Amino acid sequence: MIPLLWFSYLPWTAFALTVTIPSSPEKAVPVISRSLISLSIEQDRWPEWVGTSSKNSFFLNTLDNINKLTGAPPNIRIGANSEDKTNFAYDIEYAEDIFPAPTAIVPYPEALNITVGNGFYQIAQHLPRGTHVTWGVPLGPLNVTAAVLEAKAIMNAFDSPGCKAAGVTLDYLEIGNEADLYANNGFRKSYTSSQYVQEWTALATNISEAVGLSKTGTKFLVGSFAGSSSKTTGFSPQAIYSENVLASDPGSLIAAFSEHHYSGSFCAGNGGLLSDLMTKATIRSNLTIYQTDVIATRGEGLDYILGETNSYACHGAPGVSNTAGAAIWALDYALFAPQIGISKVFFHVGIGFKYSLIQPVALNRSILDGSPLSTPLPPHVQPPYYAAIIAAELRGSKDKVQISEIAINDTQVAGYAAFEGGELVRAVFINSKAFLQGNTNRSSVHLDLVFTGKGPETMTIKRLAIGHADDASGLTWGGQTYETESGKVQGKLSLQSKRVKEGVDISETEVVLLNFAGVH
Ligand SMILES: *[C@@H]1O[C@H](CO)[C@@H](O)[C@H](O)[C@H]1NC(C)=O
Ligand SMILES: *[C@@H]1O[C@H](CO)[C@@H](O)[C@H](O)[C@H]1NC(C)=O
Ligand SMILES: *[C@@H]1O[C@H](CO)[C@@H](O)[C@H](O)[C@H]1NC(C)=O
Ligand SMILES: *[C@@H]1O[C@H](CO)[C@@H](O)[C@H](O)[C@H]1NC(C)=O
Ligand SMILES: *[C@@H]1O[C@H](CO)[C@@H](O)[C@H](O)[C@H]1NC(C)=O
Ligand SMILES: *[C@@H]1O[C@H](CO)[C@@H](O)[C@H](O)[C@H]1NC(C)=O
Ligand SMILES: *[C@@H]1O[C@H](CO)[C@@H](O)[C@H](O)[C@H]1NC(C)=O
Repeated sequence: MIPLLWFSYLPWTAFALTVTIPSSPEKAVPVISRSLISLSIEQDRWPEWVGTSSKNSFFLNTLDNINKLTGAPPNIRIGANSEDKTNFAYDIEYAEDIFPAPTAIVPYPEALNITVGNGFYQIAQHLPRGTHVTWGVPLGPLNVTAAVLEAKAIMNAFDSPGCKAAGVTLDYLEIGNEADLYANNGFRKSYTSSQYVQEWTALATNISEAVGLSKTGTKFLVGSFAGSSSKTTGFSPQAIYSENVLASDPGSLIAAFSEHHYSGSFCAGNGGLLSDLMTKATIRSNLTIYQTDVIATRGEGLDYILGETNSYACHGAPGVSNTAGAAIWALDYALFAPQIGISKVFFHVGIGFKYSLIQPVALNRSILDGSPLSTPLPPHVQPPYYAAIIAAELRGSKDKVQISEIAINDTQVAGYAAFEGGELVRAVFINSKAFLQGNTNRSSVHLDLVFTGKGPETMTIKRLAIGHADDASGLTWGGQTYETESGKVQGKLSLQSKRVKEGVDISETEVVLLNFAGVH
């Protein structure tokens, strides 16, 4: 009995890995935007996100946390599915929505019909100073009057003293959401990319003339497709470029292509497994499918973004999208994206959506099955919010920070190195093996660190502590929590200092950030 007992107390260290970290960036290491992790907001409930007569301080605090780490708040896109269901009326102050009944699969359904007034756009002035905004107007209903009225109200709001004083600017107007699905969702009987290009060009001409777009700093972004054929047939950037979307007058004002992507869908109530979502190989294969689209887009001199993305479409899968494992997924996903030339990743959020990084208002029903909650759940961050914080900390606030993936020959450990002025400053490692509730024997990988050139001698280690991959709360980052009433960080910061030659252990479902700067 004694040897068995003794054995069960042994730490469950499965194996050691030697990891070679570049001491300086190899050629073509991407420069990372301060707003790499940005947000796409479902626009039906936008006024609740930011606040109307007064600001929603909880939401703004969650943006300010990131601002403090990188020197810029996340970019904000407002629109999505509800953008195509929005009309404008002067006599409405903010917005009037008509919602369908909630269901167990969709506890927080999107509005069927939204009518907005000038105030809906004006409240963008509540966003943090320096916020760059993208706003969508409808293409689905082909109501030119509605789209032009909305575009005028948007441009007036950003040209107002309120937004100017707040330092909030409009980067892009988007026209239509996921037009590649219009033939399936009732907007059209059938639809091709050449019809899209023709309709987009006509509507963009009306809009750009009505608002004098060429005389402003605002551009169009194009695409916002749900998928891509990556060919000149079907819907893709290649198709619309070959159909001359860039050639018209408004086409010359296009500055970016936006792609939407989800790893799977919960639309029919069947989600994937958390352990699959987190898998290093499928995170990469979900993104590398866009490699040729990125090259085609950059070849036209345009930026390429994931303008709307998250784990599972239709607001997320319960017990998957809202969990700590989704934070692991989101971090690796967002850091891998720029490795193939995607400049920003806009995580889609909505009130009560399972995959939201943030729940900005109190909730009355369960996000998992719509059942009533006896006491409302106050505003809070969900686990994937920690991915935004960690990516921001890895990026830091200096100009022109570069981040490269560290080549690691392992199916569960990924790593990225950050360089400031060509010098290695930080590295993050992600162990994406799912340690689920009920699992025993959490394994740990020992990383031995070697460098291509002169390496640092000491480091501090900061850990994302997670009980289980399927926990929906209770994460800590360096001993601190963001799961607070205000959305601001609380608790005592806890870091370990170590000699680099000792290496670092990383257990299943864990993230470690190594800081080499200032500890030489
Ligand atoms: C976990 O560890 C115990 C004690 O070493 C061992 O008996 C058991 O088989 C292990 N379980 C798994 C699933 O590996
Ligand atoms: C949307 O709601 C507005 C205001 O209630 C109404 O005038 C309009 O007819 C509705 N549109 C649709 C398509 O239901
Ligand atoms: C849109 O442009 C067309 C062509 O110039 C014009 O006939 C039409 O009146 C415009 N519609 C609106 C609502 O501005
Ligand atoms: C188009 O939008 C305008 C402006 O709100 C509205 O008056 C009109 O009824 C809409 N047309 C249709 C066909 O819905
Ligand atoms: C994306 O990820 C999901 C979940 O791991 C996987 O089922 C799917 O096959 C992946 N898609 C691609 C294109 O790799
Ligand atoms: C919660 O219920 C109150 C009262 O019915 C309502 O005003 C509020 O909008 C609800 N909150 C959410 C997030 O649905
Ligand atoms: C990667 O690891 C596998 C399995 O441990 C090994 O067979 C293979 O040779 C390694 N490849 C490289 C490039 O090191």
